[in-house]
This record gives sequence, structure tokens and C-alpha cells, in this order.
Amino acid sequence: MRVVVATAEHAVDVESWAHRARRGKRPLSRCYGPAPVSEQARQALEIVRKRAPNAAPTVGLVLGSGLGGLAERVQDATIIEFADLPGFPVPSVEGHAGRLVLGTLAGKQVACLQGRVHLYEGHSPQTVVPMIRTLSLLGCATLIATNAAGALDPDATPGSLMLITDHINMQSGNPLVGPNDEAFGPRFPAMDRAYDAELAQWLREGAKTLGIALREGVYLATLGPTFETPAEIRAFGVMGANAVGMSTVPEVIVARHAGMRVAAVSVLTNLAAGLSKEDLSHEQTLHYSALAADDLQKLIIGLLAKL
Ligand code: HPA
Repeated sequence: MRVVVATAEHAVDVESWAHRARRGKRPLSRCYGPAPVSEQARQALEIVRKRAPNAAPTVGLVLGSGLGGLAERVQDATIIEFADLPGFPVPSVEGHAGRLVLGTLAGKQVACLQGRVHLYEGHSPQTVVPMIRTLSLLGCATLIATNAAGALDPDATPGSLMLITDHINMQSGNPLVGPNDEAFGPRFPAMDRAYDAELAQWLREGAKTLGIALREGVYLATLGPTFETPAEIRAFGVMGANAVGMSTVPEVIVARHAGMRVAAVSVLTNLAAGLSKEDLSHEQTLHYSALAADDLQKLIIGLLAKL
């Protein structure tokens, strides 16, 4: 195994990556190397190609807690269990099925990750890499992510939706740590436009047309599995967060590294810790995400139709 040491030398590598990539050459740096997670993605791609030879998805969807229902609406579906795909970890949490669903939704070929894994299940951040890279290898240029989150804005109604415009990673890990695979993207990818402005605008317009209230703001990801303390929520508010959850950020990082356009929407299933008298629980998350599922599905179908 090669050990990568972070030094100022990496600043030079960024230049050489971009420069050599433009000339179709491999980077010179020794911080690039074979990534096992990419190999798993390539193996998973082979299996998907065999099981769904006609699938040519252009949009990947990550369906969060209790939001997997959208996958049921996929037409001419081919369903592949995560257990059959190298590098696709099987979720252990209720509300997460663990299936890749390929087919047509709103006239677009899609690949849905029905259920996701979370770092609190004991996975490293790198665990999400093969799944997202498989979507990229399949041809998905866009990733639409959904999740359940707690609202920091006290006037948010449980069951309402929030467009994610940016994120704060408080998970103390990054899925791109390790050897960089330059076939997907650069060593130091930018995250300043992680959430695509045009997709966000289409979601705003779609929500208006459909009469769906769509808040917007910054999503902050914690490691979990504990819900936050009220003091943490106050601190996150000062940091600029509007919603808090335990997912999505790793997938978005890997997707952006691979050059995918990203849109993400949270279902605000509760007011965050300290903002309401209601006890926080996963049952509450599933209850309110089920209530919001219909609006969220309509919103995403509207977005797919525009793509
Ligand atoms: N905190 C973290 N994750 C969540 C919450 C919350 O309040 N609600 C749903 N997922």
C-alpha cells in the first residue's frame, strides 16, 4: 500500500494534473494511484451491464430515509440488490432498502440508489465511493440526492422541504481521502459550487408551479447516530446551518469530484434539538418523511422532466 503524505508539493500536482489531463496524459504525481474503490465501481459496472444491457441512465438518485417510494414509480425497472454489487454496502437501518433500481422515470433513464448507508453504521466515508462512481461510469451526469433532516429555523414545519444550497461537513472524514483516481477527477476538487445553480433554479420554479413550499439553506452533516444536543444546534446555527442530518455530504463530494451536477433536497422531519418539545426519534423521521414523500416525488419528477 502506498502512503500519501500531504505536503506543499501537492499544490504543484494540481497544476500538473490539469495541464497533463488537457494533453490526455497521466499525471506525474506520486499521490495518484490505483484506488480499490474505483476498481469495485468498475466491477459493479460490469454486473449492471450484464443484468441491464439496455440501461443508459443519465440521472442518479439517492433516496434517503423513508423516501425510497420514488423508485417504485420507475417504469421497466431492473432491480439489483446492493448485495450483488461489489462495493455497495447493504444498509442496516429501517427505511433503507439497499437496491439499485434502473429504468425510466418522467421520460428519463434513471439509476436509483434505493436506500443508503451512513457513516454511523460503522462505515468509513470511502464506502460511498463505489456506488457514486458506478453511477458516473453508467453515464449519470446528474445526481439528485434526498435526505431527512432536522430544521434549525424554528418556523419550519415538520414535513416541509428544503432545497440544499450548500453544505458544512462536520462528519470528520472525507470520502476522497486516499489515492486519487485521476480517471474521475483531480486531487483537490473545488466544492464552492457543489450544488448546481441551474438545477436549484428549476427546483424553485417547479415548487412554485406545483404550489409546494420550498425553503432553502445550508445542510450540515454530523456523524451521528446521536441526535444533537441543544448546545450543538445553537453552535451549528452560528456556523450558518439551516438543517442538520447524518448523510448526503459524502455522496455529493464524490459526485462533484467526478464532475456530476448535483441537486439535493431535505425533508425537514423535525425541529432540531432544543427547538421543540417533541422527543426526537427515528420513528418521527420516518413518519414525517412519509408525509412529505408525495410533494418530494412531484418535485423531483418535475425536475427530471426539465433535464
Ligand atoms: N438531526 C440529525 N439528523 C436528522 C434529524 C436531526 O434532527 N432529523 C432527521 N435526521
